[in-house]
Amino acid sequence: MSKLEFVDLGVTFGHGARCTTAVAGVNLAIPSGKVVGLVGESGSGKSTLAKSAVGLVPLSTGSVLLDGRNALGVVKGPRPIQMVFQDPSSSLDPRMPIGESVAESMTGVRGRAERQARVSDSLALVGINPSRAVELPRTFSGGQKQRIALARALAANPAVIIADEITSALDVSVQGSVLNVLREVQRRLGLTMLFISHDFAVIRYVSDVIAVMYQGQIVEVADTELLLSAPQHPYTQTLLASVPRLGGQHGSSALAADTQFIDAPTTGEAGCAFRTRCPLDAAPQPAGDRRLCLEEDPQLLASSRRHRAACHFVTGVAAS
Ligand SMILES: Nc1ncnc2c1ncn2[C@@H]1O[C@H](COP(=O)(O)OP(=O)(O)O)[C@@H](O)[C@H]1O
Ligand SMILES: [Mg+2]
Repeated sequence: MSKLEFVDLGVTFGHGARCTTAVAGVNLAIPSGKVVGLVGESGSGKSTLAKSAVGLVPLSTGSVLLDGRNALGVVKGPRPIQMVFQDPSSSLDPRMPIGESVAESMTGVRGRAERQARVSDSLALVGINPSRAVELPRTFSGGQKQRIALARALAANPAVIIADEITSALDVSVQGSVLNVLREVQRRLGLTMLFISHDFAVIRYVSDVIAVMYQGQIVEVADTELLLSAPQHPYTQTLLASVPRLGGQHGSSALAADTQFIDAPTTGEAGCAFRTRCPLDAAPQPAGDRRLCLEEDPQLLASSRRHRAACHFVTGVAAS
């Protein structure tokens, strides 16, 4: 059991005028044995945040902690945080039998028999017949390949799994089986998990807690049902309104509407990053003094609260 924490985490790519702040001061904790779902539009910084936990991108601020210790400090030995990517071919060598790919991530193996047994266990765990360990990736379907990629991650005996859009490239018909396997394995092994998707329906299915990301920041965090039933941040409300199965009207993303009331935000400017798209401004009676949105960046404070939203004018029912 392990707790993963992002503390004031920032990632900036490039230098000078060309620099992009992909992650801007994220504070997010994933309690031991829980699944936190990270949702947000393409380009909001989800993958960059994920990669920061496994040392794939350089941090410009903050830290990643595993049970309170620097998660990026250890370079040798077993890797306690394993990541599964959208495209399984990034972790499966097309010329290597899948059993060998799975074995590659194992550490502390004593002898051939133990190696084979552990490969079999890992494959069985994700519903792949261990007798197929000698086959090449191309003999498997997309969904099976993704489950094999998961088996490879599990073979490292991790405390934390980060799953980044692992069903996004799959046929809708097989997405369910991959998600079921993932959820079952997570529960059985008590894994701590950061589960990333741009799809609320997928996120809801596996997550205990949902975190919403917008332009490199977490703008809302709450238990799954609470966030879905009483979203507080206008961005979350807008996102949910565009999800048909969750109560919105198909294709009616309010984000497409012209709600601009001031120049687009630039990184480092004061004020709320969402202000140029905020539907609150279009409401007949804006709540309170909206100058605050221009002058002060609403922070996601009080991490002890069950429901947090980075908005000066929280509008959800359960405002705490
Ligand atoms: N290696 C990189 N170099 C430069 N910019 C990058 C790099 N990786 C991501 N970005 C930029 O960072 C932002 C966040 O990207 P990403 O983390 O991939 O978002 P998401 O996973 O939510 O779609 C985007 O503007 C993207 O173009
Ligand atoms: Mg991504």
